[in-house]
Amino acid sequence: MRISDPRIVAKLAEIHVELRKSAALAGLTSLGIGGTTDLLRIKSHESLPDLLNLLDANHVPHKFLGGGSNLLVGDGELPWVVLQLVRPEPDVVLDGNFAHVDAAADLGRMITFCAKNDLGGMEGLIGVPGTVGGALRMNAGAYGMQIGSYVREVKLYRAASRTIEVLRGDQISFEYRHTSFAPDDMMLSVILELPSKSFKVILEGIRICNEKRRSSQPLGQKSAGCIFKNPPGASAGRMIDELGLKGLSVGDARISDRHANFFVNAGHASAKDMLALIADVREQVQKSFGVSLENEVVVWNA
Ligand code: EPU
Repeated sequence: MRISDPRIVAKLAEIHVELRKSAALAGLTSLGIGGTTDLLRIKSHESLPDLLNLLDANHVPHKFLGGGSNLLVGDGELPWVVLQLVRPEPDVVLDGNFAHVDAAADLGRMITFCAKNDLGGMEGLIGVPGTVGGALRMNAGAYGMQIGSYVREVKLYRAASRTIEVLRGDQISFEYRHTSFAPDDMMLSVILELPSKSFKVILEGIRICNEKRRSSQPLGQKSAGCIFKNPPGASAGRMIDELGLKGLSVGDARISDRHANFFVNAGHASAKDMLALIADVREQVQKSFGVSLENEVVVWNA
């Protein structure tokens, strides 16, 4: 979708939103898949109400992009523009055991920065790609921990009321890869309360998690992490593996040989290829195990 109306273009500049024409979303997602659209880069949270009013008044559909690491975007010319926060500097400010973190901060860098300041708890998430905002929205978790446990306050843009709101941690429900945020809420910043731990102890935890992840996940390849959520009491990866589906491919979309719940882009996979592979695996798991797998990856299909 293209923004060509000069009045909209002028207004965007006025509210300090950068317009990048015809951005290729394949370059902004870890899967390396996705068509093109105009990208709006937001330098100040405060411009959000004006921006959303402008887009709505001009009937410009939009979506919020985080780090693009858990996302499968459709092919070709996309029918909506994409909004993304520009990361401020600094993006993490510490105050005792509280870390004030911008949603655009890189998750891994935030964990490392806190570790260097003797704040731990998040070791399990090291190696998970993406932004803090994305991790928050999905309640990212690994190795027995989840980010939601540390959230004390979240600042977000509520599309429904067109306002910036602050929620306390206990007003938000964090479940397995799910939160009570509305789909069109945009995470802006978060306050995490992290336990004090020495850098040395945290580093050891990070080393163990890194090793586990390296041995079981295809880290160097283009993927969106796990494609399906684990059904209660079971592992989607194990079920797909048991069906002998590792290596199955549609075009360049391929089930990883290392972890069967990771589907990789082994070359120039399209969204169509990846979606066909997802549908095929879902059907086979349904047939053999009677389980309907739910997507963990977020799909933006045109
Ligand atoms: N397994 C297989 N074959 C495979 C993959 C796994 O037999 O191809 C078996 C493993 O041997 C193990 C069991 O299945 O006995 C579980 O596997 P694993 O420990 O890799 O965990 P998982 O349930 O597949 C979950 C998360 C990961 C997270 C890891 C580590 C989900 C959908 N996945 O994977 O998160 O990194 O635990 O805590 O919850 C993600 O969110 O994108 C993600 C990858």
